[in-house]
Order: sequence, then structure tokens, then C-alpha cells
Amino acid sequence: MKKLTFNYDNSMINDDEIRFLSEKIEKEIINMKKAIENDYMDDRASLNLLRDNVSISKIKELINEKKSLNPEYLILVGIGGSNLGTIAVQESIYGKLHNQKSEDIKILYADTVDSNLINDIIKIIEPVLKKGKKIIINGVSKSGGTTETIANFEILIELLKKYEVDYQKYVVVTSDKGSKFWNLALKNDFKVLEIPKKVGGRFSVFSAVGLFPLGMIGLDIEELIEGAGFSLDKCLNPDIFENPAALSSVIIYNHFNKNINIHDTFVFDVNLESFGKWYRQLMGESIGKRYNNDKKEVYNGMTPTVSIGSTDLHSMAQLYLGGPYDKITTFIKIDNNNSEVLIPNYKEYSELVENIQNRPLEEVMNAIYFGVKKAFEKANRPFMEIILADKSEFSIGQLLQFKMIEMMFLGHLMNVNPFDQPNVEDYKIETKKVLLS
Ligand code: PA5
Repeated sequence: MKKLTFNYDNSMINDDEIRFLSEKIEKEIINMKKAIENDYMDDRASLNLLRDNVSISKIKELINEKKSLNPEYLILVGIGGSNLGTIAVQESIYGKLHNQKSEDIKILYADTVDSNLINDIIKIIEPVLKKGKKIIINGVSKSGGTTETIANFEILIELLKKYEVDYQKYVVVTSDKGSKFWNLALKNDFKVLEIPKKVGGRFSVFSAVGLFPLGMIGLDIEELIEGAGFSLDKCLNPDIFENPAALSSVIIYNHFNKNINIHDTFVFDVNLESFGKWYRQLMGESIGKRYNNDKKEVYNGMTPTVSIGSTDLHSMAQLYLGGPYDKITTFIKIDNNNSEVLIPNYKEYSELVENIQNRPLEEVMNAIYFGVKKAFEKANRPFMEIILADKSEFSIGQLLQFKMIEMMFLGHLMNVNPFDQPNVEDYKIETKKVLLS
């Protein structure tokens, strides 16, 4: 079994401080277990997704149907909770350069309304369509009314219509049942996939939002779900010292109470950068709240940041080791990263950097990683560590589920609602007003 390892030896929070919060954590575990029995009725509804065999079968059927059209590209049109999870899983497993190296279906993301980005996508896609090759457009919007998504969707549908008479065949819409987007899809004969009402965007990666596009590009979505399920069981363990999500949330919460207000996810793998960005949304939106559950104005929150090892050591290490004591760091490292690249054995280069010749790059990365941890220890900087066994679907599934449950615990400890995002709506409403004027 490829288990994720969680290490908190250097968290600078002692066992008594952890134990002190175990009763609160146990209460939330009871709530989570009830939610699982309650079949999508509770705000914690994302916990129901892994066992929703009806929905998973429907997603798999549609993947087979659309794959049989032999598409060269899948274009995911969606933003925030509607694409961050997909990008995180795709890049963690396939890498940022997937499209350049893949013989299989390639994926493009149309998220923001950036003319250059959308124009580049058109420049890639139009020659494909001209050659008679196929693309699939997957429009994803929970609300069904996000300005960026609808604008980009319209543009891409227009392009598709130019080249395909039966263009409907190449479109899938993922949304809340009954949303305006859902209804438009039905009217236009597009296939639809449902996001359960109570599953919020940032918790939706294991719904059709993530599973359809990930399955389309050849990832093993069953393994992903199995990994998540393995994590779910671990993270519902009432023994706090055996529960990584509970431990991590309690440690973050203790630091938060000591005026630490930045949580840095420091990944030692460039392809985990998007995982870090997915986590930024998860933490930013879940605990960044003006009001707590008692309707008291609290302006709660911690700022989630992402750092990439070793790249960001060359820009941020000075601040992290010499700057203010305002951060808790979670390092993430992968044990077996699937590739071995050897540095050649040129004598003259050893005068520039000694002892790296004829060694795998991975050994150099490991040396840097251990060096960074030692430096953090010496500078009294708190950190936790997550080690993934490999870059498989099972491992990434574990990681994402662990983090979503950690965030539910953290919301509970901070007495804020981790499932809403009232202030995201604020700017959406204001944008629509500007566009109307
Ligand atoms: O978490 C959120 O609600 C937001 O970040 C949304 O995910 C984002 O705005 C996209 O919304 P929708 O899926 O409704 O298009």
C-alpha cells in the first residue's frame, strides 16, 4: 500500500497542546460520519462523493462515449473551484508539460477572460478543427452564471460551430441541476453532468467537475477515488495522534492562536505547484471570513502561500529564515518521482560544483531538501512534512482528501463556516453591475 506519511516532529506544538483539542476534533468527526450517512444533505456533502457509484458510473459512461469520438484536445472552460482541482491532479501526475509529451488527449484550460490566453487557445485549436480532427469542450460552472466561464464558453462554442455541423456531440456541461447553464445545455442538446447542490466548488474535485476531464485525459479515476477513500478512513480516526488531517489542523490552529498568520505549502516538486494553488483556494475561501458562526465580526483568516523547491529558495529563503516569525510551513515531497536523470561525469565541471558528477539529479534535490529542513530547524521555524510514496492517482487522491478534511477541521476549530464564500459573491455581483451600466 502506497501510504502518505505525515511528520510533525518539528511543528513546535507539543502533545499536550494537541490533546487539548482532541474533544473538539472528535465532535467534528461525529458530524462528518453523520454527513456520510445523510447522503448529500449536509454541508460536508463532498464526503459522499467517493461512494456515489451511480454518479461515478455515469461519468465513466460519458468518458467512454466522448473518447470514442477520438478527440485530440479537451478544453476545460471553468475557473476557481471548477478547474483548480483538475489542474492540480493533472499536473501532479502527468506534469506541466503533459501536452508537449502526450500521445493521448491533450488538455487546455480556458479560465480567465484574458484575450491573449483565449486567442492562443483558438490558435492551437482552429488548425486541429480545420484538419477535421476533434475536440471536446467541457464547460464547468457550479452556479452556471460565472462571467468568465460563460464568456469563454460562448467564444469556443462559436469556433466549434464553424467546423462541426453536429457540434452538440462535442460539448459536455457540468453544473448544478437546474442552473441556467444546465437548462441552456439541455435546450442545446449538450450532455450534462451534475454537481450535487451541497458540494461547493473547492470541495468538488471528486465529483464530475474533476473526474470527467481527468478520466478523459487517461487518468485512472478509480485509483484516485480509492486513494481518497483510504485517506477518508484515516482522517475519521478519533485517535487524534493517528489522524493526519486532525493533527495538521490542530497544529495550524495552535500557531494561528500564537499570531502566525501565513501557511506556506512548500512543495519539492515543480509539478505540485498547482496542488499548492488548489490549496490556496481551499484555505483562503474556507477560513477567510468576516463573521464567525456566532455572527460576530472577526475578520478571520490565514494567508496560504505556495513555494516551489528548490526554485523559490533562490528568492524566498532569506525571508523564510531571516524574516518575521509569522509562518507555519508544510513541506511536501514525493519519494519516488518516476524519472531518473544522471549528471554526466565531466571532470572540469567538478571545479565549479564538487561531488555532483555522475549522480542522479534526485540525489541533489534530496540533499537540498534535507539542507532546507536543517536550516529551518536551526532558525526555529516550525514545519510539518508530508511524504507521498509516488506520483500515482492513489497518492494524489490521498493528499487531496486529507487536505479537504483538514480544512473542515480548521473551520470547526476557528468557529467559522468553511463551506460558504459570501465575499466572492460580492465582487461577482459588482462585476455584473458594471457590465450592465
Ligand atoms: O469557491 C467558489 O465558489 C469560487 O471560487 C468558484 O469556484 C468560482 O467562482 C467558479 O464558480 P462557478 O463554478 O459557479 O462558475
